[in-house]
Amino acid sequence: MESLLKSPMKLVLLTAWLSSLMDPCSLSDICDSCHQNATCKALNGSSNACYCNHGYTGDGTTFCNDDNECQNVTNICGDRGTCTNTVGSYYCTCVSGYTSTGVAKFQPNDGTECRDIDECLTEQVCGPNSHCHNTNGSFNCTCQRDYIPTSGAEHFHPKSGVRCKEHPQKYCHDNIGCISQTVNKTLEYMSNLTEPQSLLKEIVKKTSGELTSVEVIAYVEALCHSASTLVAGEEDYSVNHPSSTQLFQN
Ligand SMILES: *[C@@H]1O[C@H](CO)[C@@H](O)[C@H](O)[C@H]1NC(C)=O
Ligand SMILES: *[C@@H]1O[C@H](CO)[C@@H](O)[C@H](O)[C@H]1NC(C)=O
Ligand SMILES: *[C@@H]1O[C@H](CO)[C@@H](O)[C@H](O)[C@H]1NC(C)=O
Ligand SMILES: *[C@@H]1O[C@H](CO)[C@@H](O)[C@H](O)[C@H]1NC(C)=O
Ligand SMILES: *[C@@H]1O[C@H](CO)[C@@H](O)[C@H](O)[C@H]1NC(C)=O
Ligand SMILES: *[C@@H]1O[C@H](CO)[C@@H](O)[C@H](O)[C@H]1NC(C)=O
Ligand SMILES: *[C@@H]1O[C@H](CO)[C@@H](O)[C@H](O)[C@H]1NC(C)=O
Repeated sequence: MESLLKSPMKLVLLTAWLSSLMDPCSLSDICDSCHQNATCKALNGSSNACYCNHGYTGDGTTFCNDDNECQNVTNICGDRGTCTNTVGSYYCTCVSGYTSTGVAKFQPNDGTECRDIDECLTEQVCGPNSHCHNTNGSFNCTCQRDYIPTSGAEHFHPKSGVRCKEHPQKYCHDNIGCISQTVNKTLEYMSNLTEPQSLLKEIVKKTSGELTSVEVIAYVEALCHSASTLVAGEEDYSVNHPSSTQLFQN
């Protein structure tokens, strides 16, 4: 008995044997207390115990948490990847706008990268009469000269339903009546602005975007007609004056 007590392993066996003699139900009781994701087994000759299944970590009875590699390592898949936890493992996929250089579901550091998709290589991705601009992970669209977006800002995404439509004054190119009408409208509007400062401010505002040919003509006319007003002004108002390059860049 003395030599038996010297060995811890044998002591454990003896204890298990004794306890099983005293309470025949004890062994099954231990296994009954195992967590749903644990297995009851006897390892290395010790008595039965609850061990969390592979891919789970815990005490085997009250908790067996799925090892979430996606959570305990920050950015394991990189900026352009998404980590997906699986039972006992995980994998990476590329976020939208990027494509994998290897398999779709990959492991970090296996040589696979997430490369930007150049959406602009797809024909007509922005619709007719547009320009496509590739960005990291996405793209956006602008309209060609003499075309404007059907709504919203200069840069748009075709998913929003925006397309490029003809600028209302486009046909002025070969229609002298249209040019004359546009010029007259501009002059009439400008004639209301008698202050040189506000006149110039208005011209700067109206010519800051992309200009059609007829708009250039109209505002040059407006400047000519306003010459007397501008000369009458004594202040130095050159600060916000549109440079001729700005006015004629289109
Ligand atoms: C056991 O694991 C499965 C699969 O991961 C999970 O759906 C279930 O909730 C887990 N059970 C408990 C009690 O945590
Ligand atoms: C069982 O014994 C082996 C070798 O002695 C050891 O590597 C392993 O960790 C032991 N397992 C448990 C659950 O104690
Ligand atoms: C992630 O968590 C598991 C257990 O949940 C642990 O075994 C592993 O070492 C952890 N990894 C890192 C890099 O912290
Ligand atoms: C559109 O794409 C260009 C890159 O070509 C980028 O500089 C610009 O910020 C983008 N605009 C918007 C509104 O996303
Ligand atoms: C995307 O980002 C990388 C750096 O992460 C840069 O070198 C590259 O020019 C960018 N491409 C575009 C289209 O913005
Ligand atoms: C524009 O104004 C000029 C002079 O005031 C006039 O002769 C011409 O008929 C006008 N054009 C239009 C289309 O209204
Ligand atoms: C210019 O002012 C007149 C009256 O002062 C007004 O009737 C006209 O609508 C104004 N024109 C514009 C284009 O604002």
